[in-house]
Amino acid sequence: MDIRYYGHATFELADEGTTVLIDPFLTGNPKATIAADDLNPSAILVTHGHGDHVGDVVPIAKRTGAPVLAIVELAQEFGEEDGVTAMDINIGGTVNFDWGWVKMVPAWHTSTTPKGTVNTPAGLLVNFKGTTVYHTGDTALFSDLELVGRRNPIDVALICIGGHYTMDRFDAVDAAALIGAKTVIPCHYNTFPAIETDAQAYKADVEAQTNSRVVVLEPGETHSA
Ligand code: NI
Ligand code: MN
Repeated sequence: MDIRYYGHATFELADEGTTVLIDPFLTGNPKATIAADDLNPSAILVTHGHGDHVGDVVPIAKRTGAPVLAIVELAQEFGEEDGVTAMDINIGGTVNFDWGWVKMVPAWHTSTTPKGTVNTPAGLLVNFKGTTVYHTGDTALFSDLELVGRRNPIDVALICIGGHYTMDRFDAVDAAALIGAKTVIPCHYNTFPAIETDAQAYKADVEAQTNSRVVVLEPGETHSA
């Protein structure tokens, strides 16, 4: 399967016509290399309600009919939109799809949508056709990151490293050690000046201090897992 990075925290998992889109933020993203109108996901997954994670959810869901999976408060807001199929979940829960399953796990952050809906932010453990991908969402470093992969070992972790709104690249090294994924792909950095960081330095630190391999993707690039 392919993991396509569209910049910021936006990823697409793709295999033979099935595509799962996570946290679409293309419109207004200065680093985006693709337009929201060019994406045709089978499902959309959302970690939390901040504008840089939900930005293009509603237009893509309306155009494609792709269901949107999000925590209950956020799913309710999406479901109020005409033509949007919302699926709810809460932290600790698992939802099955014909391509796999999604489990919602904790993240330390805050979240209110641009419309004002308060919601608890989360991470997402996604089993896509047998490959387990963990999107950390916007989180700080916390020790329970270690629990996420205990029953479901993680193939690829998508870890925020930009600092300021999330953990920085130094805390994210400890996060990678706790998560223990085979492969780490850093995200949520260099989109704006406040979150500029050195992804190659992060890669060097993680590979020196953990057993994980780091793949640094530029927006628009794909990693085959
Ligand atoms: Ni956020
Ligand atoms: Mn964010």
